[in-house]
Amino acid sequence: MFLILKVALVVLLAGWVFRQCRKPSGWLGRRIVRAMSLSHATMTDWGLRQATVEKNAVILDVGCGGGSAVNKLAAMAPQGRIVGLDYSAASVAVARDKNAREIEAGRVQIEQGSVASLPFPDCTFDVVTGIETHYYWPDLPSNVQEIKRVLKPGGSFVLIAETYRGGPFRLLYALVMPLLGAAFLSDQEHRDLLIQSGFVDVATEHLRGKNWILATGRRQFR
Ligand SMILES: C[S@@+](CC[C@H](N)C(=O)[O-])C[C@H]1O[C@@H](n2cnc3c(N)ncnc32)[C@H](O)[C@@H]1O
Repeated sequence: MFLILKVALVVLLAGWVFRQCRKPSGWLGRRIVRAMSLSHATMTDWGLRQATVEKNAVILDVGCGGGSAVNKLAAMAPQGRIVGLDYSAASVAVARDKNAREIEAGRVQIEQGSVASLPFPDCTFDVVTGIETHYYWPDLPSNVQEIKRVLKPGGSFVLIAETYRGGPFRLLYALVMPLLGAAFLSDQEHRDLLIQSGFVDVATEHLRGKNWILATGRRQFR
């Protein structure tokens, strides 16, 4: 009886943590957002180091969570403007807190909204980033199309994630990702997703010994 209770508790706790990763909420959600920001820092730095970001770029970070990447992007584009967007109120609150100085200076803006319907006109951004978030998006092909819509011609989409199917820790993630209800794409499926959405110069990168993926594509000029 005691064992059944323990197992039930573990399952409930795991379910709660998984829901929080997908859409953090409340006071505990805000703590989780901060913890995720810390745990994604090295991977984010690795991915952003390989991105071309002009000093005056206008950038959108979709699924910005606690806003750490927004902060890094603001440093990379000191004459630019950065927008962080997330559909979770808890993430938006933490991201606004993290970027308070830059928001005050008018260089950063944090908005609540979904990748499914980005609240921006066509051709607004030079770069759109999505870090450790695309697994949770409701309809990947149309969400990536939506990102293309808000990119300027020649603008880049930079997707950075901790895992892809077929990477070094494939067995662990093959168990965890279905529990999270998360999309789990292979390297080739990431490329196909971008190519089929009309991106050009599509490429993926990995870091030896890690399960990380960087997938990039450019919106065609025309
Ligand atoms: C695992 S966290 C990663 C956050 C941040 N990018 C980082 O690296 O720490 C995933 C974030 O994506 C957000 N998210 C998930 N689905 C979303 C959607 N449809 N539209 C906007 N944000 C979304 C969640 O609210 C959460 O803040």
